[in-house]
Amino acid sequence: MIGQLVDYTVQHFAGEEAMLEGAGYPLIEQHKAIHRRFVDKVSQMQARHEMGVDTTDELLKMLEVWLFSHILHHDHGYVKVVKASLAQH
Ligand SMILES: [Fe+2]
Repeated sequence: MIGQLVDYTVQHFAGEEAMLEGAGYPLIEQHKAIHRRFVDKVSQMQARHEMGVDTTDELLKMLEVWLFSHILHHDHGYVKVVKASLAQH
C-alpha cells in the first residue's frame, strides 16, 4: 500500500506542477521542493517498512498533518493564480 501511495503521490504532484507551470505560478520552484520533501519522507518510510519496521501510525499521522497543512497553507496560495489563468484561456 505504501508503494501505491508513493506512485499516486508522484503522479498527483506531477499533474499539479504541470498545472502550476501552465498558470505561470511564481512560487512553483518552492512548491515543487515541498512536494519533493514529502515524496522523500514517504519513500524513506517505505524503505523502513520493507526492512520490517511498522510505520503505519507514523504514516497515518504524517498524512493527516502534512496533507491538511499542505492543502490549507501551500495549495491554497496558488488558487487565485490558477483561476485567473483558466479565465484567460
Ligand atoms: Fe501541492
